[in-house]
Amino acid sequence: MTSHAPVIDTAHIPAPLAPIIEALAAAAVELDAVIGRGPLGQSLGAQVGENTDGDTQKALDVQADEMFAARMRQTDVRWYASEEQDSAQEMTPQGAYAVAIDPLDGSSNIDVNVSIGTIFSILDARDDAEATFLRPASEQLAGGYVIYGPHCALVVTFGDGVLMFVLDREKGVFVLAETALRIPDEAREFAINASNRRHWKDPVRAYVDACLAGADGPRGCDFNMRWVGSLVAEAHRILSRGGVFLYPGDARQGYARGRLRMVYECAPIAFVAEQAGGLATDGQASLMAQQADGLHARSPLVFGSAEEVREVARLHAEIAAR
Ligand code: AHG
Ligand code: MN
Ligand code: MN
Repeated sequence: MTSHAPVIDTAHIPAPLAPIIEALAAAAVELDAVIGRGPLGQSLGAQVGENTDGDTQKALDVQADEMFAARMRQTDVRWYASEEQDSAQEMTPQGAYAVAIDPLDGSSNIDVNVSIGTIFSILDARDDAEATFLRPASEQLAGGYVIYGPHCALVVTFGDGVLMFVLDREKGVFVLAETALRIPDEAREFAINASNRRHWKDPVRAYVDACLAGADGPRGCDFNMRWVGSLVAEAHRILSRGGVFLYPGDARQGYARGRLRMVYECAPIAFVAEQAGGLATDGQASLMAQQADGLHARSPLVFGSAEEVREVARLHAEIAAR
């Protein structure tokens, strides 16, 4: 990025990564404006194709990918891996970094005016694209997301706590709003797509059933439930007031490892959650120690308030020992 007006306050951002974060922020400002026009702009939710995973691609998925790719091309990013592209693209051959991205998360919410997002992960680049992205989540240099909602916020960790920036839409600048975002340790709110209950494995069913049983059940307290259908919106709510999110593996064809992709969905969200004092697992084991075996490989994901994530893991261990 050259002599543009600042799009984000870089005071707390590690200097070597600042140009990439500025470029991500610049694309996010553009994308937020497109999303904000809704049906006054072009048809954002129209289906235009299918991605590698067989998901339908909406016009906005493709447009978002192009916006981020164009900005990343102007930085020290060597490899760009996107949900919307089969394989990683080489950008700046001598570049030191790699970016994995879900340019538009929560596509099913585009047309209904519900929060959607972008999820990103930054790694140091190796000579081989696969070797760059297929490594433990703990090797990320940064992980974060942008939420396009009633306000637009950029949340990011560089491994030393979690920063939150809020977009001043009049000025087109992300302003630092929080320097140490924390997930409350305890919370009584869970998020899971309950329509899949009949496909769940016993530990997940046991956890959710205990929540639903409320004060009369084994947990001895009432729980609340939310399911937005945008991982970013769930993550942001959990970062704001606690709770737990589950997208487990289930018995549906193709869902043995859930729905969410490790490299550009689970890993960065896990990094943020853990840096905010929460936990992130595949149901049992910490996600930060794990790595994908393919760019678009899925992973079960459970994250949020430490006490609830531990309870899910405890039930997995207890039921396995029977
Ligand atoms: P994407 O729009 O990038 O494909 O991601 C959608 C994901 C995630 O945001 C959400 O948590 C989940 O899919 C919703 O899945 P269900 O439709 O199975 O509930
Ligand atoms: Mn997604
Ligand atoms: Mn997406």
